[in-house]
Amino acid sequence: MIDFCGLSLAHPIVNGSGTFDAIAARRTFGDALLADFPFAAFVSKTVTLEPRQGNPPPRLWEQPAGLINSIGLPNRGLDGYLERDLPELGALPVPLIVNVMGFTRGEVGRLVAAFAARDEVAAVELNVSCPNVESGLVMGADPGETAALLEHVRPLTSKPLIVKLTPNATDVGAVAAAAEAAGADAVSLINTLRGMALSPGTGEPWLGGRTGGVSGPAVRAIALAQVGEVAARVTIPVVGMGGVERGVDADDLLRAGATLVAVGTESFRDPRAGERVADELRDLQSKRSEIAPEIRSADTQKTGIK
Ligand SMILES: Cc1cc2nc3c(=O)[nH]c(=O)nc-3n(C[C@H](O)[C@H](O)[C@H](O)COP(=O)(O)O)c2cc1C
Repeated sequence: MIDFCGLSLAHPIVNGSGTFDAIAARRTFGDALLADFPFAAFVSKTVTLEPRQGNPPPRLWEQPAGLINSIGLPNRGLDGYLERDLPELGALPVPLIVNVMGFTRGEVGRLVAAFAARDEVAAVELNVSCPNVESGLVMGADPGETAALLEHVRPLTSKPLIVKLTPNATDVGAVAAAAEAAGADAVSLINTLRGMALSPGTGEPWLGGRTGGVSGPAVRAIALAQVGEVAARVTIPVVGMGGVERGVDADDLLRAGATLVAVGTESFRDPRAGERVADELRDLQSKRSEIAPEIRSADTQKTGIK
């Protein structure tokens, strides 16, 4: 078992917000999904205060090493989520982490307070990739904005608060340190990187939102660097994600300092990716622990250092 902010998880693999629709999966796979859930905790898609339609289509561009998405966070809004999504997600066999986003600190506060009151919710993840309409600054791109947000929402809940950092920041380590100092229980990263694709015919931006978020193997090396940087700056747990396809990718993020690893884009190709990555990781770690004593003793003989 893994302890993450007081939650006991069966293994270190969770999903990235917005990349696995557990409600649709339950409709497709039935109760078999519950008997054999692919993740150790479920992170729900971003919820906003008001319902959102999302961006105009097209919303996805597939590229050789992943996706560019311009989904635009469509969701039912807080009331619709409480009424229709929470009863289904609260019945999953793993802890539920609700991801929220607001356009002002007050909006984020209302979302955090609403979920603080719900027993089905184990933790809240703050998606800070959007601009604060009052200051014009992206909440997670500036350490001062991030700290001010945490200071506002921290008193509203005793549940663990995870800050999902944006990689589109000048100094992600400074933002993570500010989040920790202002009371965050954990940080998660990376969210998608801004990118663009042009329509081959017209040369105009392909995506309805013009630009979108790049994810998948294309961002893996960036995720590894940022997770390593952040893990060295904070003492709270880090959830690492970005381009994880196999157990070895998860292992890299754990070795860079993450406590948990999220699988995102890969779940679109393989809905059981979470479970597969967890199995591959377990194999890798047990093989390493079998050979490690021999390597250690060979090293000791060579160097004399124990
Ligand atoms: C289609 C799609 C939708 C996403 N929706 C959300 C979302 O609603 N909230 C959020 O915080 N991150 C969202 N993300 C970002 C992922 O959770 C994750 O941070 C990112 O994709 C990097 O991981 P990956 O390379 O394994 O996909 C989304 C990513 C994709 C590809």
